[in-house]
Amino acid sequence: MSTTAIHLLLLLLLFFLSITTAGAATVSSDIVALKAVKSAINPTTIPSYTCLHSWDFTSDPCSPPHITHFLCGLSCSGNRVTQLTLDPAGYSGTLSPLVSQLTQLITIDLSDNKFSGKIPTSLFTLPNLQTLILGSNSFSGVIPPAISNLKKLQTLDISHNSLSGSLPTSLTSLTELTRLDLSFNKLTGPIPELPRNIIQLALKANSLSGYLQKHSFNKLTQLEVVELSENSLTGTIPGWFFLIPSLQQVNLANNYFTGVEVFKPVNSNLVAVDLGFNKISGYPPTNFSAYPLLASLTLSYNKLRGRIPGEYSKLSRLFLDGNFLIGLPREFFSGKTSISGSLGDNCLKSCPVSSELCLKKQKPWSICRQAYHGKLKPKS
Ligand SMILES: *[C@@H]1O[C@H](CO)[C@@H](O)[C@H](O)[C@H]1NC(C)=O
Repeated sequence: MSTTAIHLLLLLLLFFLSITTAGAATVSSDIVALKAVKSAINPTTIPSYTCLHSWDFTSDPCSPPHITHFLCGLSCSGNRVTQLTLDPAGYSGTLSPLVSQLTQLITIDLSDNKFSGKIPTSLFTLPNLQTLILGSNSFSGVIPPAISNLKKLQTLDISHNSLSGSLPTSLTSLTELTRLDLSFNKLTGPIPELPRNIIQLALKANSLSGYLQKHSFNKLTQLEVVELSENSLTGTIPGWFFLIPSLQQVNLANNYFTGVEVFKPVNSNLVAVDLGFNKISGYPPTNFSAYPLLASLTLSYNKLRGRIPGEYSKLSRLFLDGNFLIGLPREFFSGKTSISGSLGDNCLKSCPVSSELCLKKQKPWSICRQAYHGKLKPKS
């Protein structure tokens, strides 16, 4: 081969190389969006060790190698940004509405920072978004009905923010959603009809009110975990609730429920139920013992009266403290059980102090007498 031929070959090679690298260069609208995302963050909150600090637009965001620039905080597929996953560095600022130009985004995770202001509505136009995690920031405003446009969304976590207003009824159209966590916000109003494929539902520590309504939970055949504690829910916890087919863990503690209805299941995976710190009156529901896998039951600090069902002795954790219970079945102290929990702060005259279950003192007799309208005999 002549030298000219070799030169020509090298030139050709260079030409193709430049084409392929140009092909991998990030599309300009994605670059504009990334620049906007960075510039909406207060530069004094971007220290040198952070992902955002390495975002230097003199180099291309999606083109490797990432040795000094764009070290972290985003991922690409070809020339498009597919993940925006910022490190928990305490970035403070807003989320630029131009984020919606990153139309190939599959994942956004901005958790554990100090983003504030509204979540830009343009975000809800991203057609491919599957994971949206904005937890532990200071986002405020309402959850707009347009959230239902995120047809591919599987995980939505905006817990620990300052969202207000009520949950949009359009949530039900998020048919791919399996994990919803909006705990620790300022949400009000009732629980709407929920997306039908949800597995984990967490709305803890808001101000949600109203009854547990069947239409909210009707189609939820996958629901395993329900965390609704620390809200303002009222009424009787209905019997169908514990019969939700896949249900495993339920926390309805710290609400204003006044009663509980429990039906015997045909089959159930229910393992743990916490109904503590409500206003539930009546007798402790014996039917809970018909749930074959139930291991942990908490009914602490309610207004329960009457005898403790002997059937409860097969549980491994039982918290009944802070009620007006009388009468303690023998099964509990037969030596065959190893229950942990508490039966304290009730009206159990015979709770043996040798048992850990009885460590917490019982109520003064006068209070118990009053609770039973003076009909309580001192020997019960
Ligand atoms: C216990 O469950 C049965 C069968 O589901 C039901 O008919 C009954 O009313 C329940 N008992 C109580 C006290 O709720």
